[in-house]
Amino acid sequence: MKKMTSAEVRQAFLDYFEEMHHKRVPSSSLVPGNDPTLLFTNAGMNQFKDVFLGLDKRPYSRATTAQKCMRVSGKHNDLENVGPSPRHHTFFEMLGNFSFGDYFKRDAIRFAYDLMTKVYEIPVQRLGFTVYESDEEAYSIWTEDIGVDPRRVARLGPKTNFWQMAETGPCGPTSEIHWDLRPEEGIDAIIPALQAESDRFLELWNLVFMQFNRLQPDPDHTGQWDEPLPAPGVDTGLGLERVVSVLQDKQANYETDLFMPIIRRVQELTGQTDAVRDANIVPYRVIADHMRAATFLISDGVRPGATGRDYVCRMVIRRAVRFGTKLGFEEPFLADVADAVIDTMAVAYPELLDKREAIRRTITNEEIRFRRAMDRALDELYGMIDELRATREPSGEL
Ligand code: GLY
Repeated sequence: MKKMTSAEVRQAFLDYFEEMHHKRVPSSSLVPGNDPTLLFTNAGMNQFKDVFLGLDKRPYSRATTAQKCMRVSGKHNDLENVGPSPRHHTFFEMLGNFSFGDYFKRDAIRFAYDLMTKVYEIPVQRLGFTVYESDEEAYSIWTEDIGVDPRRVARLGPKTNFWQMAETGPCGPTSEIHWDLRPEEGIDAIIPALQAESDRFLELWNLVFMQFNRLQPDPDHTGQWDEPLPAPGVDTGLGLERVVSVLQDKQANYETDLFMPIIRRVQELTGQTDAVRDANIVPYRVIADHMRAATFLISDGVRPGATGRDYVCRMVIRRAVRFGTKLGFEEPFLADVADAVIDTMAVAYPELLDKREAIRRTITNEEIRFRRAMDRALDELYGMIDELRATREPSGEL
């Protein structure tokens, strides 16, 4: 496997698809333009939703992006897993290639396979594949055209292998590429492990074969509200943090060069040793994750507030403060952590550099406001406890 920095992994993806005649399109904002079905951009295809629906035309029929995404609510919600899980994030980047009525399953699968095995040099012996249960075409492309051993290709149902952006909108069957964390368990155990969604496998890349527009929510996957799209297309999502963890041979995304500079900045501020840091890794991870989210949200114009997106911005900053108290922080410290986010991510998102001061100021103001609110709440609580003590019998216990 190639040893690559995260910047190289991102760049190699975009370069590869550019060579395959895809237009390199910048990430869209985390704030989706004019789409009431979404709180935040949650996938690379969001900015192309109307193109898939045939309502918008672009001067290109193939595109590639590294897209900023947030998943904190609604259909794709990862918030509760952030911290304890080595892989979940609120903010993350999704690498994608898209076809708008151009190529379909055959090329999508070939591109993905070649990028994984030739550019990133991931051995096929470490990969497992899934297709939608009734998708004979995708199954035969993997096993016959590409020549993957059928014992590596599992057929799965709609819970894992049918993708929809939101309750309604463009959707379709998928094929996924997974990293095998425990190849020693043998090739014959691959399909049962994929079917059981076992932690032997780590999903890396989702290839969506966009075929339908779902007109009404359909939780039972009856398909009755799915209207065929004007032209079928392709939408893929490769989780940058995950593929970097594979290529950098790390057990957790947080150990990669996308997160370690941020975690180290927190550690410099706490003065803790590596051993103490590792014993308290959950707060470190939450702070790193939430400061990435806050930095990019503020950069995209969101401000801490009481409702909607603003509330999410406030929530991630306040959660970071709360997790900071577990590490002993009593004074504002998050602006310094945001600096580390900016320094790490500016290679791909140089606009962060111009917004550094606004980001620092916004985070610190919210941090101060929250600390004051916490102090006030604690004062009130202690006041109530004192009052209770005064009115109870001397022997009474609280
Ligand atoms: N749109 C593909 C994915 O998010 O997995």
